[in-house]
Amino acid sequence: MTNKLWDKGFQPDRMIEEYTVGDDRQLDLRLARYDVEGSLAHIAMLEKIGLLTAEELEMLSAGLRQIAAEIDEGRFEIEPGTEDVHSQVELLLTRRLGDAGKKIHAGRSRNDQVLVDLKLLLRDELHRIAQEVRTLFDRLQELSERHKGVLMPGYTHLQIAMPSSFGLWFGAYAETLIDDQRLVAAAWHIANQNPLGSAAGYGSSFPLDREMTTRLMGFEELHYNVVAAQMSRGKSERAAAAAIAAVAATVGRLAMDVCLMMSQNFGFVTLPDELTTGSSIMPHKKNPDVFEIMRGRCNRLQALPNEIALLTTNLPVGYHRDLQLLKDILFPALDEMHRTLAMADFMLAHLRVNEHILDDPKYDYLFTVEDVNRLTLAGVPFREAYRRVGRAVQAGEYRPTREVRHTHAGSIGNLCTEQIRRKMERVMEEFE
Ligand code: ARG
Repeated sequence: MTNKLWDKGFQPDRMIEEYTVGDDRQLDLRLARYDVEGSLAHIAMLEKIGLLTAEELEMLSAGLRQIAAEIDEGRFEIEPGTEDVHSQVELLLTRRLGDAGKKIHAGRSRNDQVLVDLKLLLRDELHRIAQEVRTLFDRLQELSERHKGVLMPGYTHLQIAMPSSFGLWFGAYAETLIDDQRLVAAAWHIANQNPLGSAAGYGSSFPLDREMTTRLMGFEELHYNVVAAQMSRGKSERAAAAAIAAVAATVGRLAMDVCLMMSQNFGFVTLPDELTTGSSIMPHKKNPDVFEIMRGRCNRLQALPNEIALLTTNLPVGYHRDLQLLKDILFPALDEMHRTLAMADFMLAHLRVNEHILDDPKYDYLFTVEDVNRLTLAGVPFREAYRRVGRAVQAGEYRPTREVRHTHAGSIGNLCTEQIRRKMERVMEEFE
């Protein structure tokens, strides 16, 4: 029975090729420019150690630069029958330059090529994420300063607790992003190590000059041990995933806050109509769909480290084809992170805050602690002051003074925006 299927042209080798190549022909396009960059460094080094002549180097470099131009112009594709970007680049060079093209692969393997490509890509992508996080951070700090005088209820257990402010709320997300940014910087450092020369994962008998390729590709460090370099496949992605998940956790939580605060039962923030979405049945609806989608996407991004962990857990040392599937997981997540950060910044720029939230008497109890503290400052022992205000609340006689005077570092009246900004700047210096 099954033979019939094969007879109809489904050659087992074609099925196997399709199954193993998967989406690589598409995904690898994203690696193409890095593959060329790696090859340019590799051939310069091959010439230095005498495996290419100066003329061959010149010819191959020109050939690679031509391919780079084709990539930039969107004219590069991975042909059917070619497995991946590494094979395609070599194929083009051989087709165009003959024997010189055939020399380029000496001393390396697709295993270290894909490692190089991914590290160069991660280095760029993580830097871009860091810049996007920085933009969002600046936006939050600006909003925090602009609305520092606008009070809002602070909650614990979702019960009215103490006065907070939009200055604190926006500023809190800004400062939290710094911790996420530290993880982005750590992932960036992990990606910033040169694996080229690890070849299939065990090095080469050619006297490769790995310091030279490290310099040429601008890597911070060499990934010295060739086995460790190969083992970093999956590890680098996992570090990047942890950073992305951390940023997503912060942004997702912010999105949740906005959804809650936009509900009519809160009414703390609003969006201009054109940034809301409607209902097919309820004509009055202005929904915060953007923030709901953001929350959902951020939740999905937080699955990323787990997906990568599950894919790579228990793989013994050395290359395994499973590793190819890392690209399927990582690449869409990178795009998701970029567009989520851009959207968060865009939406926050248009968010309007309600300046009169606390006029509503239902928030009067927010001020009990202020009044206890006022009495305490006037000489009443704290516990006694607490009881006095507590009894007033109990008897329904509590009237808030509505005065909020917080002056210590990081409080409503002293946001430390400058100090927080400098903290972020110190983390940004990591990327230099
Ligand atoms: N597409 C492959 C990957 O991403 C490239 C390396 C192939 N190496 C191999 N030994 N089949 O892992």
